[in-house]
Amino acid sequence: MADARKRLEPQSATGTVGSARIHDSAARHVAGEAVYIDDIAAPEGLLHACLGLSDIAHGRLVSLDLDAVRAAPGVVAVLTAADIPGANDISSTHRHDEPVFATQTILHHRQPLFAVVAMTREAARRAAALAKGVYDEAAPVIDVASARAAGGALVTDPLKLERGDVAAGLAASPRRLTGSMTIGGQEHFYLESQIALAIPGEEEDMHVFSSTQHPSEVQHMVAQVLGVGSHAVTVEVRRMGGGFGGKETQSNLFACVAALAARKLKRPVKLRPDRDDDMAITGKRHDFICDYEIGFDDEGRIHAVDAVYAARCGWNADLSGPVTDRALFHMDNCYFYPAVRGRSEPLLTNTVSNTAFRGFGGPQGMVGAERFIEEVAFATGLDPLEVRKRNLYGGNSAGEGIGRDLTPYHQTVEDNIAGEVIARLERSCDYRERQAAIREANAESPIVKRGIALTPVKFGISFTATWYNQAGALVHVYTDGTVMLNHGGTEMGQGLYVKVAQVVAQAFGIGLEQVKITATTTGKVPNTSATAASSGSDLNGMAALDACETIKARLVAFAAAKWNVLPADIAFLPGRVRVGAEEIGFRELVGAAYMGRVQLSATGFYATPKIHWDRKAGRGHPFYYFAYGAAAAEVAIDTLTGEYRVERVDILHDCGQSLNPAIDKGQIEGGFVQGMGWLTTEELVWDEKGRLRTHAPSTYKIPVASDRPRIFNVALLEDAPNREPTIHRSKAVGEPPLMLAISVLHALSDAVASVGGHKVCPRLDTPATPERVLAAVERVRAEAGL
Ligand code: MTE
Ligand code: MOS
Repeated sequence: MADARKRLEPQSATGTVGSARIHDSAARHVAGEAVYIDDIAAPEGLLHACLGLSDIAHGRLVSLDLDAVRAAPGVVAVLTAADIPGANDISSTHRHDEPVFATQTILHHRQPLFAVVAMTREAARRAAALAKGVYDEAAPVIDVASARAAGGALVTDPLKLERGDVAAGLAASPRRLTGSMTIGGQEHFYLESQIALAIPGEEEDMHVFSSTQHPSEVQHMVAQVLGVGSHAVTVEVRRMGGGFGGKETQSNLFACVAALAARKLKRPVKLRPDRDDDMAITGKRHDFICDYEIGFDDEGRIHAVDAVYAARCGWNADLSGPVTDRALFHMDNCYFYPAVRGRSEPLLTNTVSNTAFRGFGGPQGMVGAERFIEEVAFATGLDPLEVRKRNLYGGNSAGEGIGRDLTPYHQTVEDNIAGEVIARLERSCDYRERQAAIREANAESPIVKRGIALTPVKFGISFTATWYNQAGALVHVYTDGTVMLNHGGTEMGQGLYVKVAQVVAQAFGIGLEQVKITATTTGKVPNTSATAASSGSDLNGMAALDACETIKARLVAFAAAKWNVLPADIAFLPGRVRVGAEEIGFRELVGAAYMGRVQLSATGFYATPKIHWDRKAGRGHPFYYFAYGAAAAEVAIDTLTGEYRVERVDILHDCGQSLNPAIDKGQIEGGFVQGMGWLTTEELVWDEKGRLRTHAPSTYKIPVASDRPRIFNVALLEDAPNREPTIHRSKAVGEPPLMLAISVLHALSDAVASVGGHKVCPRLDTPATPERVLAAVERVRAEAGL
């Protein structure tokens, strides 16, 4: 093969990593050619399942008459808990508090009681409605207040974070205040609802197509429910039409019911709930009530914080433990509290079991932190941005910084760039000039008032369940030089697949089109973690790179021997491989290596270093690093109606050395808008009977295209490689930008405050719907005596 080598040419500088590559499925998404599970051609004999749901939120199921369901046209079978060969348990914790089907105790409205399987989806739906349940109804516990009133039963162990002497810190503070904030929940509203398609194989084998962020957990749950080994179950997911945390555990139910029916009937079964059922059955972002006491001084410096974070967790534990933990982990946002105590109160309620949602409790903690800042700003009469700066980790505008870098969980913040990000954004968006102009304009505008705010973000990256911080990959190089890539991460629109493919293309020096991105499946890479905590590219990028390095090492050893050069003189360059003074195409090298009987396939693995966490002690180093960002938002409110518009948003966000600036920008824009929806228009309402009244887009308002800020400037922080050796020094981006939307809440607050001459703290709870804004305007006016 020496003939295949050419004389060395100047190296082309273009690599794949760091370039703005389009999402691998973008064209197929818009052309309708991307295959989602409901698009998979119906397998021979396909049946359709529908869940039968409880009519009450709390009580006992006295009897369930399913005769009419069984007799309905097209019905093939009806399944209840009695039909489960394995365990009637899909709890993602060790609490065993989540049955597939309720048997006696009903814990939330629309809890699944049975499934009906029919020839068509329509027939199954019609039949499911014919069940006659007799209930012994009990009073449901709906929200934080009623849960506390009923004795405050918890779904999981609460967490306490404590550093310094809080009581002494509060007592010694020149000033103190107490308050309470209500922070709303959020429906995921993924465009593709939950769905699963189960296809039975030989013996006990089951192949499940599931729209899930956590194929390994679905595999384990299906195995558990069917009473078979995990080796009999394969779970496959090519893509989700959005997950946002809502398919981290909530997909288990649908997969298990489809598999149960498929097993029973020995035919393929699909389960796709209606949007209404999906919303009524599945958990959402936790809403919180944060009660706080803050000690501070006249210079706006916080001395001590004592806060309790009570969350509506719903009817089982699910991820409520780690979610409420993460709220506490972010009760500081970017701010140093000299003495601090945070306690969680994960409350059991008779509502859907709240779960992961982009930020995983972190956003709620940070909304609280920004409320503390706002309280201090209004109490002292200082500008909120100035108060923010004075309380940042690692120093303040007075030049004091020593020792101000310890978080409430005793991790030292080593990579703090919040001050720099704020300063750069403040300059680039003309914050001060615009703030002054807005104040002036407001004086002349009696009805429409504008507001502006700049808020920072610091988000901890890693699963706080330390063992989850691992990933595997499988890479095959074929003899024509093309590559098959598989890893444990799932694609939900966030661009994970293309990022990892870029890493692989770069490693081999080949084009992105040479790398085939393949569906995530438990059959190729086992024991994977959920694609969550924003860690998908950090973990799977590293695992894939590890596999590439293994193959490259074999190729190098082979080429060094064959062409008699030193291994150090072999390099994988864009489009070719340098072998000594000459070069060869990747394809030729691979072909030669195959003939030389070199293995061209490898697995890869990665485990995040440095992290540890002792939950009992409330101490450790749970995060590998932090991602930072800041946003400045400007809004206009109508003080007669409470309606508002987001006029302009400027964002500066830290992606480290971005793997793909186009994808990252999309994540920042999407995350911001989703966060804005959470804090403004998205409102969940349960009635006194525990029925979710907002279970369709008619009553639940997510942002639409016209809600996009009129001016929307998004920039990635430049020259900011991750100081930790993450994959090509990038940073995770999936969740942190959601919290940039807190700037909108505070811009609204600033506009509201203007009606009281900025003397009265608006204390806007969330969602800051027009109703809430209007009520705040009237309250502030009254309190200001105007
Ligand atoms: N982006 C899109 N388009 N769709 C999604 O479902 N989920 C978010 C975020 N960005 C999501 C998304 C959530 S909750 C997480 S944890 C991360 O993506 C997960 O992917 P990553 O780890 O690859 O960033
Ligand atoms: Mo994201 S909430 O960690 O799935």
